[in-house]
Amino acid sequence: MTIAEAAPRIRPAHSDDIDALLQLETLFPTDAMSRRSFLRLLKRPSARVWVAERGGTVIGSTVLLTRSNSATARLYSLVVSPAARGHGVAARLIALAEAEAQRQGKHTVNLEVRTDNAPAIRLYRQLGYTDIGTLTGFYEDGSDALHMHHRIVVSS
Ligand SMILES: CC(C)(COP(=O)(O)OP(=O)(O)OC[C@H]1O[C@@H](n2cnc3c(N)ncnc32)[C@H](O)[C@@H]1OP(=O)(O)O)[C@@H](O)C(=O)NCCC(=O)NCCS
Repeated sequence: MTIAEAAPRIRPAHSDDIDALLQLETLFPTDAMSRRSFLRLLKRPSARVWVAERGGTVIGSTVLLTRSNSATARLYSLVVSPAARGHGVAARLIALAEAEAQRQGKHTVNLEVRTDNAPAIRLYRQLGYTDIGTLTGFYEDGSDALHMHHRIVVSS
């Protein structure tokens, strides 16, 4: 097993992680979150931020948002550093976010992804996400988003 394949530790993020989180945000072509946004998210009871770390280095993160009046949670951000991709880190982060959504009584997780982000869309489909529709001009650069959802609680 190479170091890239060793299972990362996933834990809640804290304010000391902000620099690493901002570094990961640079991997998004647009709509990167600012330091202020992260600080706000870390304090918000309706937000959960996790980091994946290996050997003390943060290699991925995800953000889940919930609203008390909605049974749908939102996977707001997901990113894994290039050297750590393809080993299931994102899948583990999503599983953790979905478990937390379920724990909070949510039945569905929604997300938006750029329509040209084929690797991410493939991963979401593998994990059971299906298309809701296209959000035209959703991103700051005017590009479209695919709106997807995953029912995490099967109604009996
Ligand atoms: C999209 C992204 C988060 C995926 O991260 P990742 O950690 O590589 O994702 P995973 O490893 O869980 O899944 C990716 C692939 O590895 C495969 N995989 C999963 N576990 C694996 C394992 N243990 N060993 C080998 N491959 C594995 C998955 O099946 C998937 O296969 P695919 O290439 O056929 O789709 C990452 O590419 C990224 O950060 N991109 C830039 C930011 C971004 O676009 N975020 C999404 C915005 S909505």
